[in-house]
Amino acid sequence: MKQDFKDMLGRTMRDLRISVTDRCNFRCPYCMPSEIYGERYNFLPKPEILTFEEIIRLTKVFVGMGVGKVRLTGGEPLIRKNIEELVEGISSIPGVEDLTLTTNGFLLADKAEALKKAGLHRITVSLDSIDPAIFKRMNGRGYGPDKVLEGIRAAETVGLTPVKVNAVVQKGVNDGGILELARYFRDTSVILRFIEYMDVGNLNKWNSDDVVLASDIVNLIDQEMPLKPLTSNYGGEVASRYGYKDGTGEIGMISSISQPFCGDCTRARISTDGKLITCLFATNGTDLRALLRDGCTDQEVEKAIANVWTKRTDRYSEERAYGTKKFDSRKKIEMYQIGG
Ligand code: GTP
Ligand code: 5AD
Ligand code: SF4
Ligand code: SF4
Repeated sequence: MKQDFKDMLGRTMRDLRISVTDRCNFRCPYCMPSEIYGERYNFLPKPEILTFEEIIRLTKVFVGMGVGKVRLTGGEPLIRKNIEELVEGISSIPGVEDLTLTTNGFLLADKAEALKKAGLHRITVSLDSIDPAIFKRMNGRGYGPDKVLEGIRAAETVGLTPVKVNAVVQKGVNDGGILELARYFRDTSVILRFIEYMDVGNLNKWNSDDVVLASDIVNLIDQEMPLKPLTSNYGGEVASRYGYKDGTGEIGMISSISQPFCGDCTRARISTDGKLITCLFATNGTDLRALLRDGCTDQEVEKAIANVWTKRTDRYSEERAYGTKKFDSRKKIEMYQIGG
């Protein structure tokens, strides 16, 4: 029986999302706009980044506290050197029931096999459009979608399944390609999920007019390819599931704007520099790296984590949606520092 650390709202800590690098080979305008994050941008220097040993040690402590699901994120996790060694270290921790990684897929075709061998269970690929012109604009680097699609195929071939594809939808940017994406992945075993564009960080100048509601996406797809709702796979699943009525596959909707899911938020996050962050929309975190490097014992690290989790009350998306709090221009952590 796993331990149950509950926060002030009764939420148990079950998932750990670890950002392994703040760097990325893409420059998506909604995350790392190229005019700000040029080649010489000051990303974190190496000594500030958690080492693999530190990440593995922390993961063991979290697993001992009840976490069973671990996701590696970035930035782009596949540009962290020897990432498969980290995967191997985490996958051999008893109690890690689900180990996955979120990638932009550009390097996936080359890495899929090594990741599988190292013990990664499955993979999620971010792909906002398969229209070459739109995709080129959206990755800020002028790359076409072929390498990412090749990566998705490679992941399926080696068995990093189920492969999920995440598409963030922005009005007037890629909403014209929703049906094309749905048609492409229908009739495959890839689970395509559409994400409502969120106000993460401060740099993307988010505006509620840029959001395409999940209900509109469902209606659009349903008109051409009839859908039926499916029950969720597990309590607290972020995506609402839909199946094509003719049985040709599954899609998901992540409605963090229109239907926030803070009540089920079982996720703890570690930033690249070792801060424990509970909410995606936080301003700051608790420095776990300092504890590791100051020679604290695992029990002391666990105490610090428990102290943060058990006092947790954050529920940003709900508060924004229901207007119970006024949000100003306070500084929020950027997506590439915590990886979603
Ligand atoms: P599975 O384990 O495959 O079901 O993945 P997941 O549902 O946890 O989803 P994933 O990690 O792929 O996250 C998909 C997207 O959902 C992220 O990129 C975010 O945009 C959003 N998301 C995930 N977790 C949270 C969260 O705690 N809060 C909010 N607001 N959005 C989240
Ligand atoms: N809103 C929703 N999803 C976002 N992502 C990045 N920024 C946002 C945002 N503002 C997604 C990426 C990727 C995952 C890590 O988070 O596209 O799928
Ligand atoms: Fe990189 Fe992902 Fe951010 Fe795009 S959204 S710049 S792929 S970290
Ligand atoms: Fe959890 Fe914060 Fe997302 Fe709500 S907004 S689901 S509290 S991370």
